[in-house]
Order: sequence, then structure tokens, then C-alpha cells
Amino acid sequence: MSSQLFRATLFFGLGLFVAGSCSPLLAQKKFVANYDESKVPSYQLPPIWQDDGEKTAESWQPRRAELMQLFGNQMYGTPPESEFKIRFEEIESGKSFDGKALRQQFRVELATEAGEHSIDLLVFTPTNATKPVPTFLGLSFFGNHTVADDKVITVTSSWCRSSKDKGVEDNRATEAGRGTSKSRWPVEMIVDAGFGVATCYCGDIDPDFDDGFNNGVHALFPGHRPDAEHPDRWGTISAWAWGLSRMLDCLQQEVKAVDGERVVVIGHSRLGKTSLWTAAMDARFAGAISNDSGCGGAALSRRAFGETVERINTSFPHWFCGDFKRYNKNESALPIDQHQLVALLAPRPVYVASASEDRWADPKGEFLSAKLSSTVYEALGHAGLKLEELPPANTAEIGRVSYHLREGKHDINAWDWANYIRFMQQIAD
Ligand code: GCU
Repeated sequence: MSSQLFRATLFFGLGLFVAGSCSPLLAQKKFVANYDESKVPSYQLPPIWQDDGEKTAESWQPRRAELMQLFGNQMYGTPPESEFKIRFEEIESGKSFDGKALRQQFRVELATEAGEHSIDLLVFTPTNATKPVPTFLGLSFFGNHTVADDKVITVTSSWCRSSKDKGVEDNRATEAGRGTSKSRWPVEMIVDAGFGVATCYCGDIDPDFDDGFNNGVHALFPGHRPDAEHPDRWGTISAWAWGLSRMLDCLQQEVKAVDGERVVVIGHSRLGKTSLWTAAMDARFAGAISNDSGCGGAALSRRAFGETVERINTSFPHWFCGDFKRYNKNESALPIDQHQLVALLAPRPVYVASASEDRWADPKGEFLSAKLSSTVYEALGHAGLKLEELPPANTAEIGRVSYHLREGKHDINAWDWANYIRFMQQIAD
């Protein structure tokens, strides 16, 4: 190699190194999560109530409206309120789980002047029910066909995140994915308890990757805060929440086996962040369950324990609106925090759940949000969370404001669901 060429190669290599060290990918690698309670920054939470204001049902309404606006503008982005057409078609029904469950599949078709979009909704209800049943509604990570070993369930044709375990090839779901998430969806246990469970694939609503808020249902509303000049454009979590409301439209208007006044929205992890925001936005939901929802869900952002605002905005730039990035490494400037999000659900029953080894999601931060939200429940005439501090693992406190800490990893399993069924009982009564 000539010395000139060598110098040029060296220069180019160094250039790449310097550019690389500034790239988001490498910046991300350098992130070290804090798991040390003594290193949690000292913080002051924004008040749930108006400063020095009265804590009454009357004073809560204007304060709630103010908080909704802040969460919409600063964090999740506000969905459009413009018109759309919606149609429901039952595409299949039959018996499942040895005849214990009635399985129904619906196609929810949405249309605006900009185009059309459809989402498949799968519903299981007990065959022996004598009246419409209270029902859980939640999104799945990989499609309806992953929730049960049932050959009749439609395999999604929407884009899927790569996963060999879930039978995804080239970002497309395949037959191999059937039943691969069944441990997260104990359908038989739910119908045995007398409840229904309905689900659709989050990617049917909005694919989980960053495309500048243009794909999925975003594409139906191109005029709604369409460009980078609108930092409060609705992110993917808001799109999923909007989609869940359309699933509720279908359950309420089309599915006779379901008691549409008693639908509880449930979600795990990113979908647990979604369940809280969904119920905040749509008062028709009878309650909400957030399982291991962490940063951007139930966990207090200001604790910066485990995942932080900067980290989530870097790894998942499409989940929240552009303005949320202003709070990267700057949580104390947030005009809101997640205890207020939980409070927005009052007086409806809410369940926040954590797992002991899920430090990334900050179980203590999740617990504190549930605890602190209790002030609104109490002002509205209901009991708040009865626990005073983070309980030992495998303790569940079920009430209007519920909390549990399951032993183990980031997941949703039969133990979690057994408690969600107990929680659902108060909605059924
Ligand atoms: C990542 C992300 C979390 C999220 C989780 C999930 O770990 O950092 O915020 O909750 O994925 O959705 O599985």
C-alpha cells in the first residue's frame, strides 16, 4: 500500500470511528441503567391536584382535562378527532377449547378519504354463558394466531417484528407461530371463570417500527399533524390506543356475547403502557390493567430507575410524540408524571402489576404511581390502594386500585391472570 493510500485509509477509518462514536446505535450501547435505589435522583413530582386546590369531584374535572391535554401534547400525541367510517364483518365463528369457548373472528374495516385499513379481532366467550359477559380486551405482540393452538384462527398478513420463536419469517407471520404465545393468554381459565377475552394484533393497527408516523392507521389521517413541524403528532402508542377504541366499537355494537359496558383493557409491557393511555382517553372502558408496563407506562419517569426517558425515546422513537424527546435526560422538566396517568382512570378500577426481576420496568416506580393515584379515587368516594409500601413478591392487593408484585421475570403468566380474574369480579358484580 502506498503511504498516501495508507494515510487516506487511516483517515477514512478514523473518520468512521469518530462518526460511529456519535451514532445513536453506539450512544445506545453506552447506556447504563441505574438499579441502585440510593442513586435515584431526588425529585419533586408534579401535583395530581391543582396546587393548593380543593380535592373534590368538582375540582377534579377541570384538572383532569388539563392533565389529559398535557399527556396528549407532551407525551403520547393526540389522535385525530376527524370522521372515519367503520364496518364490522364476522368472518368466522365456531367452538374452541373442547367446546368450552365460543370463538368469533371479526374484520373491522376503517375508511377515510385517504384510504382503507382493516384489523382482525378475535373473541372468546364461555359457551355456557346465559348473558353477555365482562371481557378482557388486549393487544398481542405477534398476531391472533399466536394466542391459542387453534388452526382456524386467521394468521395476520401485517408486518411483524423478526422472531424465529414466533414463526416470523422475513417480517411475515407463518403457520409456525400458532399458539406460541398461549402461556400469555390462558383462554380456558378465563372462560371457565365466566369471562370473555378479545384480542387483536398491535401491528394490524400500527406496525411497531419508526416510519415517521405514516403507516398503519396513521395513514388514514394524513392531514392530522402530518409533518415534523407538529411535534405533538400521535405516536404508535396513541395509534394502538385509538385502534383499541375501534375494537371496543365492534364489541359494543356487534358482539352480543360480550357485555360492552364491562370491557377491561389489558396489556403487557409496551402494550401495558398502551392500556393505561387507552382507558384514559376512552371512558367507555370499564377498567384497565397494566402488566409490567414500566417507563412510559405506570413507572414514574422522574425516578429514572431502569429504562429512562432518553433511552426509550432512542430505542423506540416512534412510540411517543416528538415533544417527549425534550425530556431526554431532563425528566424533572416534564409537566406530568405517570402517577397522574393512573389517576386519570378514576373512578374506574385500575390494576398495576410488576414482576420482582423486572428491574428495567422499575417495580417500585410502578407501585408508587398506583399508590399516589389513590388520592383521586378517595376524593371520588372509593378506597385507594391499601398497601403502604412495595409488598413482598407474590402478594396481590385487589381493590378499586389494585397492585401486585409477581416473583420472576418480565412476562405475563397464569398467576398474573388468576389475579386479573379476581379483579374482574368487582366489575362483574
Ligand atoms: C423494551 C422496552 C420497554 C418495553 C418492552 C416490551 O424492553 O425498553 O419499554 O416495555 O420492550 O414491550 O416488551
